[in-house]
Amino acid sequence: AAAEKGGFDWFMEKEINEQPQAVADTLLGRTDETGALVLDELRISEEQLRSVDRITFVACGTSAYAAMIAKYALERWTRIPVEVSLAHEFRYCDPIANDHTLVVSISQSGETMDTLMAVKHAHDLGALTLSICNTHGSTIPRESDGVLYTHAGPEIGVASTKGFLSQITACYLLGLYLAQLRGEAYADDTRVVLTELQETPDRIAEVLDRLERVREIARFMADTRSVLFLGRHVGFPVALEGALKLKELAYIHAEGFAAGELKHGPIALIEPGQPVFIVVPGPDTPHGLHGKVVSNIQEIRARGARTIVLAQDGDTAVEPFADEVIRVPRTSPMLQPLVTAVPLQVFAMELANAKGLDVDQPRNLAKSVTVE
Ligand code: G6P
Repeated sequence: AAAEKGGFDWFMEKEINEQPQAVADTLLGRTDETGALVLDELRISEEQLRSVDRITFVACGTSAYAAMIAKYALERWTRIPVEVSLAHEFRYCDPIANDHTLVVSISQSGETMDTLMAVKHAHDLGALTLSICNTHGSTIPRESDGVLYTHAGPEIGVASTKGFLSQITACYLLGLYLAQLRGEAYADDTRVVLTELQETPDRIAEVLDRLERVREIARFMADTRSVLFLGRHVGFPVALEGALKLKELAYIHAEGFAAGELKHGPIALIEPGQPVFIVVPGPDTPHGLHGKVVSNIQEIRARGARTIVLAQDGDTAVEPFADEVIRVPRTSPMLQPLVTAVPLQVFAMELANAKGLDVDQPRNLAKSVTVE
């Protein structure tokens, strides 16, 4: 079994370390010699894709957070309105969909029943259905019009890690491809983003090389009863994912918030010693978001919170208000989740480990939930 885990203590740890490869493999072979994206495997014609005027993502758990991240990117690059629906809520909100609607399901396993039922409902409404999936030949891609496989390799640990990063990657490929089909990316240059995406496996590898401090922090926090996570823009779903990982693995009460929402309620939870992780947007994120999040850190620190700040290399503005700074390499704003998610995965894993829990098989959870 030790060999199967590649020398790591847990499958999850092995899978966290495989993330540069999972992202690289998901990108592999998807461009032609001119650098343009080619996604022939989609099985949906260019003409059909060009007629799409609404996109709805359906997914559960970690896959739904990948969808929330995708919304920011796809709307920016394609200007097509994007919605995200938890798959088990989709049918019950009387969804609006027709043959110009692209319903994109995200599922690592391809067997999640809630997601499958949403796809079938979308199909009945006449929508185009596309599956982003990691498991060849599984049910959801079979039941969908088209498929875009992630190439993360088998994921054994119940809590998704490399599955998640490869889903974000596949969503970005889809967004850039739709932008390419529609002419040009509206906001960012498609080629520039694609080139940077192709460099992210190296950025993720850099993150993996500097996780010792986050492991130490996790071990010191083995008795912690509640942890909050704040993020903004694409960092908001990353905060939600950080909280989910901690619940799943370490059975600790954890909540993720949009940093801007803090003053509308959650700040009442801040008391001396409350640990709060803050995912800070890069200093060059548009609309001054970086400064706004730095103010949030200042506000909660002033109320005694213990602030654990995820910030880009060179971002010194956070330092006066941070009890701990976890550094991630610089990326453009949209690509930040691919690096910031990693320390949060490792934090949850290490904390569960420190509590003597089974990291790969947390209580009450299943790798894929095949009942509604
Ligand atoms: C289960 C797992 C989660 C996963 C979710 C969706 O609840 O415990 O880790 O995110 O299913 O799984 P899927 O295979 O559809 O991505």
